[in-house]
Amino acid sequence: MSDNPTTRRHISADKKREDASLDTMLRPQQLTQFTGQERLKDNLTILIEAAKARSEPLDHVLFHGPPGLGKTTLAHIVANEMDVNIRITAGPAIERTGDLAAILTNLRTGDILFIDEVHRLGRAVEEILYPAMEDFVLDIIVGKGPGAKNVRLKLPRFTVIGATTRLALLTAPLRARFGAQYRMDFYEMPAMRSIVMRGARILDVEIDDSGADEIAKRARGTPRVALRLLRRVRDYAQVRADGFIDQEVADAALDLLQIDALGLDELDRRVLLAIIEKFGGGPVGLDTIGASISEESDTIMDVVEPYLLQLGFLERTARGRVATPHAYAHLGMALPDSGDSADKQQPTLF
Ligand SMILES: Nc1ncnc2c1ncn2[C@@H]1O[C@H](COP(=O)(O)OP(=O)(O)O)[C@@H](O)[C@H]1O
Ligand SMILES: [Mg+2]
Repeated sequence: MSDNPTTRRHISADKKREDASLDTMLRPQQLTQFTGQERLKDNLTILIEAAKARSEPLDHVLFHGPPGLGKTTLAHIVANEMDVNIRITAGPAIERTGDLAAILTNLRTGDILFIDEVHRLGRAVEEILYPAMEDFVLDIIVGKGPGAKNVRLKLPRFTVIGATTRLALLTAPLRARFGAQYRMDFYEMPAMRSIVMRGARILDVEIDDSGADEIAKRARGTPRVALRLLRRVRDYAQVRADGFIDQEVADAALDLLQIDALGLDELDRRVLLAIIEKFGGGPVGLDTIGASISEESDTIMDVVEPYLLQLGFLERTARGRVATPHAYAHLGMALPDSGDSADKQQPTLF
């Protein structure tokens, strides 16, 4: 197999090009349209209302969690609710300190600077960001050689909203500068169901409750995945079922896409099978797993692992990843012989 499996994934929470235009259409504009994440929404509402009541810019906000859960969406919603401009950039896009200086000097009071993948900011750029976030000043060096001078510019009070899939990679000083930090969790079924229904309404897709349920169930608690599956099932329904999505149609379409009852796709299964078949169930390091199936360990860490952990199919130990008995059972595989003889398998009663 020479083609890269990630490009064939239907379930990857990574952004694909198709999503770009639809994203804007499907993206909730207000907090009240944003389904699920109830506690986060409560906290965010309080943060926003309090800042508004004091007529102050919002404190710096950090959203962290797996891709596709709504971090970018929330950044836009916050800007809407605060009625301020949002400037969008990403860690890897700010290459030089001059890039950041240019962005910062163009901000107006209250503006939001959204930095996606904030864990990927370069060290030198971070050093400029610290005083900017803390004291709203920009320290720059003017001129060259012995005549160079340090100049301190005042910046308007602005708000950084950072998003990251890798909280652990954020440096401690940067993390400390975010006054409000929110973890995004996978969505529960009721929220997933209404996200599918809302998507269907916007995309003008005919679907009943059972169809929405089936898609929601197999979308690994991730809105972006749910909306992508909805579009694929819609295609199937159009070609094979007069355009109407019920449970049977959704089920057939998702089976054809090789997405199983729990939402695992081919890549998830390859990861689990590699751990079980090539490494005796683990423990095995993530890079080793990645190399053994020719897949980037970043993809495995961001997209595959969080959901497998959540399902209890994978455990993270100090020595590496271990496949749990649940994973064996789901794949219909026998647990490795632990060395116990059959007569010891009776439960021990105390
Ligand atoms: N709570 C939600 N309700 C409705 N749609 C959502 C919700 N969260 C995310 N989405 C949709 O899912 C997609 C991915 O969200 P996005 O904010 O880009 O995720 P992230 O930035 O965390 O990767 C977008 O199309 C967005 O409209
Ligand atoms: Mg995003």
